[in-house]
Amino acid sequence: MTLEGKINELNERRQKVMMGGGDKAIEKQKAMGKMTARERIDLLLDANSFHEYDMFVEHDARDFEMDKKKLPGDGVVTGAGTVNGAPVAVFAQDFTVAGGSLGIMHAKKITKIMDYALKMRIPLIGINDSGGARIQEGVNSLYGYGEIFFRNTLASGIIPQISVILGPCAGGAVYSPALTDFVFVVDGVSKMFITGPEVIKTVLGEEITMEDLGGARIHSEVSGNAHFFAKNEEECFAMIRRLLTFIPWNNTVKAMTLEPAEPKNEYDIEKIVSDDPSLPYDVRDVIRAVADNSDFLEIQELYARNLVIGFGRMRGQTVGFVANQPNEMAGVLDVDSSDKAARFIRFCDAFNIPIITLVDVPGYLPGIDQEHAGVIRHGAKILYSYSEATVPKITVIIRKAYGGGYIAMASRHLRADFVFAWPTAEIAVMGPEGAANIIFRKEISSSENPEETRKQMVNDYKKKFANPYVAAAKGYIDAVIEPNETRSMILHALEITANKHISMPSKKHGIPPF
Ligand code: HXC
Repeated sequence: MTLEGKINELNERRQKVMMGGGDKAIEKQKAMGKMTARERIDLLLDANSFHEYDMFVEHDARDFEMDKKKLPGDGVVTGAGTVNGAPVAVFAQDFTVAGGSLGIMHAKKITKIMDYALKMRIPLIGINDSGGARIQEGVNSLYGYGEIFFRNTLASGIIPQISVILGPCAGGAVYSPALTDFVFVVDGVSKMFITGPEVIKTVLGEEITMEDLGGARIHSEVSGNAHFFAKNEEECFAMIRRLLTFIPWNNTVKAMTLEPAEPKNEYDIEKIVSDDPSLPYDVRDVIRAVADNSDFLEIQELYARNLVIGFGRMRGQTVGFVANQPNEMAGVLDVDSSDKAARFIRFCDAFNIPIITLVDVPGYLPGIDQEHAGVIRHGAKILYSYSEATVPKITVIIRKAYGGGYIAMASRHLRADFVFAWPTAEIAVMGPEGAANIIFRKEISSSENPEETRKQMVNDYKKKFANPYVAAAKGYIDAVIEPNETRSMILHALEITANKHISMPSKKHGIPPF
């Protein structure tokens, strides 16, 4: 055959693979409101930057008449390209080919691109759209998943790993996304569950739809398995591209630096927080009042809303924000918000992103539900993650910092590098009402006018303890600052901590309260 003939043959072969499961299957995919694997990659990556690897890989299964089945690319597209000009490795399962099910060669394509991402120290993005383990390939499929989970764990903390759920992600397959750093879901498209509606009906006799069981909203609002919720696939890809501007390629380099920019004038920090400590406010406005260009990328926006996490920039460099949200349950800490904070703190620490903590917390949420749900164990995760984090830790106490909440929210005692407090800060063992009721119980009950006495005792307690000066007198905070000074003090702290170096006691690893 001439070179021209061989080139034609190559192009024909390429064309066949690019057709995935064929016109009918692609039509079905579109009817479900989904793009094809290659369309997704093209939209996610910079234009014309994607290079596909292993497109001619074929399955070698024989049972259940698999020897008669051609599965182009074995149902997954893998390769590398760029996002915002920076390299990324990617795999996208192709549901049009055997439902994107995972057989051994499919798994080997994924593990090969995972190995490549880790070796090249570049982020890995996995697009999941699959019926799970390829039933005909039996235990070989399970081997494949195991190999993927192992690599997810190995790469954790070295390269960022992003999972995008754009179809079913069923059975044990869900554990790969769960081991990655950020999970993106799309309304009406993503379905994630361990056991599907059929199994639930058989075993438990309960009827439930896939959407109610593990749709995008459920994982964004209830389970907390998802970090970003998008209306459609286009919006989802734009969100991933934006996230990648904030995070570094790997744990040895910094995220891209943008031109420094002042916050927008519309966020007047003195007007956001009310003088009345019982009135709520949106802490995201405080973040926007200090961050460059008031730009804040919130993570898990719909989950455990009593605590806010996300990325912003200070003088062009990425920082992570962790903040109690007084707008939601008075910003109290509970099981879910502890999980949410702890995982984010560990991400920031692993990828050398300074953490700025804004505190307005009445403490941990009391009650039997929380106690039985393990608020002791989960609450301890925040203490653990802040204590072990060695990145710059800068804390600003805005209003309440009571009890365990005060300690947990990056206090000096967990080795914050800088702790600043507004004059409105109240740093105390507990709220004035509760405290006065306990320590002045006898005075109140024996008084002729208990209610009046109680009020007076609460006021006395407030005057004495509900301010930042007792903590300042002990050096637990470094400075009492005006709200207007918050940005400049954080910038100062970032400057001073830029070359922070501390060493922790050497050990194999700690045992966090998982
Ligand atoms: C082989 C599969 C498959 C699978 C789907 N297909 N899932 N082939 N193994 N797991 C094939 C179908 O046979 C069909 O092939 C094509 O993909 C499209 O599937 P449909 O059923 O027509 O699509 P749809 O109606 O959209 O339903 C999608 C679905 C359903 C909900 C995902 O296919 C489904 O329930 N699949 C099985 C899910 C499952 O139980 N997986 C195993 C989980 S156990 P044709 O040739 O007709 O086009 C597991 C263990 C992993 O994953 C443990 C790891 C630790």
